[in-house]
Amino acid sequence: MPETAALTNPLREGIRLRRTPDPCSMVIFGASGDLTRRKLIPALFYLSREGMLAPGFSVVGCARTPNTEEAFRREMAGAVKKFLQLTTESDAFVEAFGKTLHYVADDFGDPKAYAMLKGVLERLDQERGTSGNRLFYLATPPSFFPVIVQHLGGAGLAKPQVPGKTWTHIIIEKPFGQSLESARDLNRVVTGDFSENQIYRIDHYLGKETVQNLLVFRFANGVFEPFWNRRYIDHVQITVAEELGVENRGSYYEESGLLRDMIQNHVLQLLSLVAMEPPATFEATAVRDEKAKVLRSIRPMPASRVPDFVLRGQYSEGLVGGKKEIGYRSEPKVAPASNTETYAAVKLFIDNWRWADVPFYLRSGKRLPKRVSEISIQFRRVPHLLFRGSGAEGIEPNVISIRLQPNEGISLKFCAKLPGTSMQIRPVKMEFRYGESFGATPPTAYETLLLDCMLGDPTLFNRDDAVELSWEFVDPILERWKQDGGKGLAFYPAGSWGPPEADDFIERDGRQWQRL
Ligand SMILES: NC(=O)c1ccc[n+]([C@@H]2O[C@H](COP(=O)([O-])OP(=O)(O)OC[C@H]3O[C@@H](n4cnc5c(N)ncnc54)[C@H](OP(=O)(O)O)[C@@H]3O)[C@@H](O)[C@H]2O)c1
Repeated sequence: MPETAALTNPLREGIRLRRTPDPCSMVIFGASGDLTRRKLIPALFYLSREGMLAPGFSVVGCARTPNTEEAFRREMAGAVKKFLQLTTESDAFVEAFGKTLHYVADDFGDPKAYAMLKGVLERLDQERGTSGNRLFYLATPPSFFPVIVQHLGGAGLAKPQVPGKTWTHIIIEKPFGQSLESARDLNRVVTGDFSENQIYRIDHYLGKETVQNLLVFRFANGVFEPFWNRRYIDHVQITVAEELGVENRGSYYEESGLLRDMIQNHVLQLLSLVAMEPPATFEATAVRDEKAKVLRSIRPMPASRVPDFVLRGQYSEGLVGGKKEIGYRSEPKVAPASNTETYAAVKLFIDNWRWADVPFYLRSGKRLPKRVSEISIQFRRVPHLLFRGSGAEGIEPNVISIRLQPNEGISLKFCAKLPGTSMQIRPVKMEFRYGESFGATPPTAYETLLLDCMLGDPTLFNRDDAVELSWEFVDPILERWKQDGGKGLAFYPAGSWGPPEADDFIERDGRQWQRL
């Protein structure tokens, strides 16, 4: 096989069946940043190596740091090798990919930067045949989102170059706002220069293979959907646990906290996919309408009821994987008396016919024992137990677990008879694991989402109403916490499953957190 030919990977055959996007230039604002290095460039490299990008595809990196094109290409080649753990066999691919990269250094606040960028894009249109198609990616601190959008508009870069013939899309990273008001303001600014169908608000959780498979699981199988409602489901749990602490992002986290960082976006998005009604088609508007309906149906939580439905915690010193880790308040760039939450558990209800009175328990935290994200659908117990004295009294009810990471897959826990002459019952699991069933790793979330955006498919991106609806839910909680100061903040040792109060939080309803 020639060294630069596309690789064969059975799981990627699926995405290869899709159209190849039109040739385009992708401008990454924040090209010297962590996200670009760790996620965006490796994802683009993979797409290019798989033959998923048009030959003229080009990247223009923009950041403040002065850099030469050559040095930028070298740095990005280093990132690709490091984060994809490539061997020297891939050097030819890396070198070929490097030729698609260009660099423009300037301050995002300087209008001259956009005039220069325009010139570079026009040159690429001529030289590489990118045909006027543009994808702008805002991988910058959020305070620059409005600044860049307005400058793009001012430089005449926001609208498609030839309406009806070329496209211009913009991907906006999270966080999309810090509150309902700021999210609305940002929506207003962005829609001032771009129309909604050009805007791709990214939540990388939605690009994960298992998240998409959740829709296939629910709507391509006849067997599950009839049970997917309040008659059969006792409750739903969504856990997004991280082993890492705040690392070197203390100042960001002090402003954000866990509720904004995880629950407002990733966890509420997962919730909307689990709880949505079947859309009429698998098209962006139909799917996004149903997701928005779920968010609109979440029972509002007035600030006065927050302590009954939300628990917040913060990690203190402890052992993670046998290694001693410092507490949050000792992390760099964190206030020594900080009340910022690094853990939250939320109980909510969705007020509609399908889910009336079914609790949804959401929990997420940093410095928990392991990195794991899972959705668990717990079914009601059988109405009458035949098997008394067989160990059945204490057995757990059926659970469908959708594992998003690691070891993506789906399992069903049910009861089975223990082999032997007596009637002994034990829970067993039926499991599907991506790695085992398909023999290869799925594309990363960023590969999927970048490709979708180039193909003009916004299904897995957030629409303006969904973003605002999730802030509507989160805002009163943040407001109440602000009033309370440190009151109600529970502490947990790093490496534990959250504060002891988190167990009481669910056990007072006669339920337990899933063991993950
Ligand atoms: N990192 C992740 O894993 C991750 C995951 C999900 C979402 N995100 C989101 O992605 C965005 C970027 O995150 P990040 O971690 O990559 O941030 P980062 O490492 O701090 O990078 C910020 C980038 O913005 C550039 N920049 C800042 N001020 C500038 C200015 N005045 N003019 C020109 N360039 C300027 C920096 O350039 P210089 O270095 O040259 O100053 C750098 O390239 C954030 O919104 C974040 O929330 C990140």
